[in-house]
Amino acid sequence: VTQEHTQPEVNIGLVGHVDHGKTTLVQALSGSWTDQHSEEMKRGISIRLGYADATFRYCPDMDEPECYTVEEECPNGNESEVLRTVSFVDAPGHETLMATMLSGAALMDGAVLVVSATEDVPQAQTEEHLMALDIIGIDNIVIAQNKVDLVNRDRAVDHYNQIKEFVSGTVAEDAPIVPVSAGQNVNMDLLIGAIEETIPTPDRSNADDPRMFVARSFDINRPGTTWDSLSGGVIGGSLVDGKLSVDDEIQLRPGRQVDEGGKTEWRSLETTVRSLQAGSASVDEVTPGGLIGVGTGLDPSLTKGDALAGQVAGKPGTLPPTREAFEMEVDLLDRVVGEDGSVDEISTGEPLMLTVGTATTVGAVTSARSGECEVKLKRPVCAADGAKIAINRRVGARWRLIGVGTLRD
Ligand code: GTP
Repeated sequence: VTQEHTQPEVNIGLVGHVDHGKTTLVQALSGSWTDQHSEEMKRGISIRLGYADATFRYCPDMDEPECYTVEEECPNGNESEVLRTVSFVDAPGHETLMATMLSGAALMDGAVLVVSATEDVPQAQTEEHLMALDIIGIDNIVIAQNKVDLVNRDRAVDHYNQIKEFVSGTVAEDAPIVPVSAGQNVNMDLLIGAIEETIPTPDRSNADDPRMFVARSFDINRPGTTWDSLSGGVIGGSLVDGKLSVDDEIQLRPGRQVDEGGKTEWRSLETTVRSLQAGSASVDEVTPGGLIGVGTGLDPSLTKGDALAGQVAGKPGTLPPTREAFEMEVDLLDRVVGEDGSVDEISTGEPLMLTVGTATTVGAVTSARSGECEVKLKRPVCAADGAKIAINRRVGARWRLIGVGTLRD
């Protein structure tokens, strides 16, 4: 049986502390769908993008929550109807670095926070990831209280209350908390129901100019491919606006660094869309939602090894400016997540790690006043006036999230 391909229409981030069950949950929800990725896709795009699609279905003649399923056949033997396909975005990479989680967050329309019932709340990344969602402005959140098969009823109730207390006063204050066992496939229907209710597909008009946040880029050629059979560079990421078709002209910013006459500058790249992948399918046109792979006419050496990750692609002449320095308004957190003590003001000369869209760059503060500062970047970013910036400071051996900035022209 071939299932009709449906492009995912919404990106849902999966966040939470290590080992709390994110991967297991995606497996439980994506059902048989993941098996449909061809070997080639697995090698090429899907694995590198770190995502999985799930098609949520509905059994018309059943009550809630039993009516929600990922199976084609309903528990009562009838055929289920497709509600929508969603794309789960894992923070790119598997390290727990905040930067990777934050650049993934730029692509999320909502999030599922996975919290294991076997540990007290909050664990370090539970807190850090929730703070990050807050900063990036993601407020459509569902909490999956996972591994309830491993605890007794009293512990589950205690743990539920710990979650309630922890989210009180945060962006997840009203988030539904759904007890599940991803491992034992328990309450997946309830969870799907909560996601359907809480994380709607954003209203997007496809009339706007296309804008793509690039999260990955690579060279799909095998070593030893001769020049006449080389495929152009591939960029992967998510379309946040408009639509993109095969043969469209696109521009990428910041582009590439060019050294000329002792001077270096960044020049945008222009190329043509040669092919498009959405989920496991090759398509002629893509709209926002899910992660896409774009085959381009770029020299694959330019896209190799994520060289273009963090860049922005769009119709030539429509992209925001490339900035090597900018000014931002700053809102600091009350305290550093995972550390004791309050957040000190930003000072002139200190290095900051900044996440803007899918780009992460280090900047030096060239001037700081209360509530605002100017930074000079090591690597420029393409960003519009008003863009939200996650600000990280080095504390001990690692970068810690300390606040949010708003770029000002
Ligand atoms: P990272 O990707 O490392 O952050 O971990 P993760 O959050 O993706 O956790 P993962 O899904 O790998 O699960 C961690 C361990 O918990 C695995 O051994 C799973 O089999 C187990 N596990 C996940 N969900 C459940 C559950 O509902 N019940 C039980 N008993 N075990 C579970």
